[in-house]
Amino acid sequence: MDYSLLLLIFTSAVFEKTWCLNTTESTTSTPNYSISATFSSLYTTVTVPSLVCENKGILQDGICICPDDWTGTTCNIQNFCPEQKPSHTSKFTFPKTVLGQFASSVERCPPETTNAGMHQASALCNIATHSFDSPNILNCSLTLDAINAWVSGATPEQKQNLASSTQILTSIPERLTPHNITNAAQITNILLSDQQTTQTTDIAISAVATISQLLNASHEMYSSVDHTAISELTQTLQKLSLREKPNPLLVQPKMAVQSLKGQTPIRQVQLTSFKGLNDNFLPDRIKLHITEAEVSKHIVDLQMNVTFSEDFDKDIGFVLYDNDQFFQSKSFKPSLDTKRRVISANLQENSGIDQVQFAVTPSADSTMSLNDFACVFWSYDKQDWITDGCTKNKSPSGHVVCSCKKLKNANFAILMAFDINYQYSEALHWISITGCALSVVGLSVTALYQIITRKSRGGTPTLLVVNICLSMTVFYLLFIFGINNPVQHVNGTKMSGENIVPESDHHKYSDQGPCTAFTALLQYFLLLTFTWNTLYGINVFLLFKNSVSGTPPWFPQVAMAVGWGLPAVIVGISLGSTYRVEEPLGYRQEEL
Ligand SMILES: *[C@@H]1O[C@H](CO)[C@@H](O)[C@H](O)[C@H]1NC(C)=O
Ligand SMILES: *[C@@H]1O[C@H](CO)[C@@H](O)[C@H](O)[C@H]1NC(C)=O
Ligand SMILES: *[C@@H]1O[C@H](CO)[C@@H](O)[C@H](O)[C@H]1NC(C)=O
Ligand SMILES: *[C@@H]1O[C@H](CO)[C@@H](O)[C@H](O)[C@H]1NC(C)=O
Ligand SMILES: *[C@@H]1O[C@H](CO)[C@@H](O)[C@H](O)[C@H]1NC(C)=O
Ligand SMILES: *[C@@H]1O[C@H](CO)[C@@H](O)[C@H](O)[C@H]1NC(C)=O
Repeated sequence: MDYSLLLLIFTSAVFEKTWCLNTTESTTSTPNYSISATFSSLYTTVTVPSLVCENKGILQDGICICPDDWTGTTCNIQNFCPEQKPSHTSKFTFPKTVLGQFASSVERCPPETTNAGMHQASALCNIATHSFDSPNILNCSLTLDAINAWVSGATPEQKQNLASSTQILTSIPERLTPHNITNAAQITNILLSDQQTTQTTDIAISAVATISQLLNASHEMYSSVDHTAISELTQTLQKLSLREKPNPLLVQPKMAVQSLKGQTPIRQVQLTSFKGLNDNFLPDRIKLHITEAEVSKHIVDLQMNVTFSEDFDKDIGFVLYDNDQFFQSKSFKPSLDTKRRVISANLQENSGIDQVQFAVTPSADSTMSLNDFACVFWSYDKQDWITDGCTKNKSPSGHVVCSCKKLKNANFAILMAFDINYQYSEALHWISITGCALSVVGLSVTALYQIITRKSRGGTPTLLVVNICLSMTVFYLLFIFGINNPVQHVNGTKMSGENIVPESDHHKYSDQGPCTAFTALLQYFLLLTFTWNTLYGINVFLLFKNSVSGTPPWFPQVAMAVGWGLPAVIVGISLGSTYRVEEPLGYRQEEL
């Protein structure tokens, strides 16, 4: 038996473990991404003496970013209603809740009822008193279907009750089905369409809270929600934003309605949403300005400037959506876990906006960087995003800014496509190269030795060993010269000048060839070493079995066919089933 060969394979394997795979190992662990964010937030630089943030606030650019339940310059002002225990006025327990939001009772509907496990009551945390208003109680046998059938003909008092029941019934986002969402959208649409339902009524507050909860339902649910119901609802919300006076309670975590009563003639209004630690809208983080000065001491998360060509003295309304669940596009199909905020700007009557400018910070995490974006608004006719009349800019400070001309009452958004920040492996270290090169030399020497001394051994064993050595040698050479991806996508924005709707929020590069070719060859030659080692084993087995006659005469031909053919078939199947030119990462990785 050929012990020298086994020893060589063993040492090669050890070499491979210790030296060659160093590069591979270091990249399979979670990489520590360094983010080259070309722009991360829109902030106004202010020089503030260094602050100490309390209550888990985080200092960013000299400003404290507070969690939802605290506010103030150093997050020292309480922004919540403390927990409420049952008392003689109410038999429900409500947990600590942020000001202006609804708390759901700890008490649940009993198991024998239709809504078993649903919160039994809700209460609004009063902004002025920092305590809960009187609770709304749910009839545990009421369903959204029943409310939907009943709501159009209900009296104002009943409507109030139905509005708060709908709010409670939609308060657990995980429980919402597409049917529930459609129902709730229809109910809130009916409640808000009523001209009597002005912004200040409790009905409007409960309805807006309900819609905010619907926006928090999972993305999958929205694919089968009734689009007509949703589009009617968004249009009703636009009208609501123009009705009556501003109300801080219409700022709910996932959606907000803001209005400016027209009195003095203005040329510009500016809507700004400031950044908080949690990704929710809060009354004290959303501001409407008619002058420029006030935006300071905060980091801006979203901003819209509406400018008029002539003095404007009518009402203006804004609707903010935390995500685009209500605007399911056919042409833009997101695949990453990013979200798009939607801002709707509305004017009374036939007055037209001269220009809107808006900017939002991207929601993707630090493992991604912006590749390109498009400035769009929603077309109710096409049920899709369109770009007509909008242009995109990148301001010198690096923000993305959109401007759209001569539009009225539209829902705007910025669609962004991201790149993954790949962490390419470093070039092989000299130790790895030396290790692999020694293996190549060893394998070549073995092969030569086998060929020279083949007479003493016979053709078949020589054939097998030489093939093993050959395939391993080629594998090592491929590894040394081909392991680093020659076509690296360096991070950074590669903005195109055109404002066109991207296909997805994940920008994919189509394949440029070399990396895939090397991968296929590496796979082929690694499989070759396996098959030839297996054939070597079969040869030994046959020798033991037919110790007199030796291996059958057909064995070398079959071995050649199987040894070189089978790996090719496997590589072909792998490539055929996973590789697409526009999506090469089904077959290979990007980093190596
Ligand atoms: C990433 O880097 C930071 C600072 O350089 C370090 O504190 C952290 O532990 C690193 N994380 C990983 C996963 O290596
Ligand atoms: C609850 O609703 C059901 C059906 O909708 C009704 O029959 C029942 O009387 C209601 N219960 C109360 C306490 O209002
Ligand atoms: C939600 O929808 C499901 C069916 O999809 C239904 O069984 C359930 O009663 C609905 N929930 C409410 C609160 O109406
Ligand atoms: C949204 O839903 C998630 C879980 O689905 C929950 O943790 C979160 O508190 C919800 N946000 C709001 C504002 O209700
Ligand atoms: C809005 O206008 C202000 C000043 O007029 C400017 O600083 C800000 O960048 C503008 N924001 C957007 C989104 O265009
Ligand atoms: C890999 O080699 C580099 C030197 O090239 C060394 O700094 C690193 O610690 C090694 N990593 C592992 C996982 O052995």
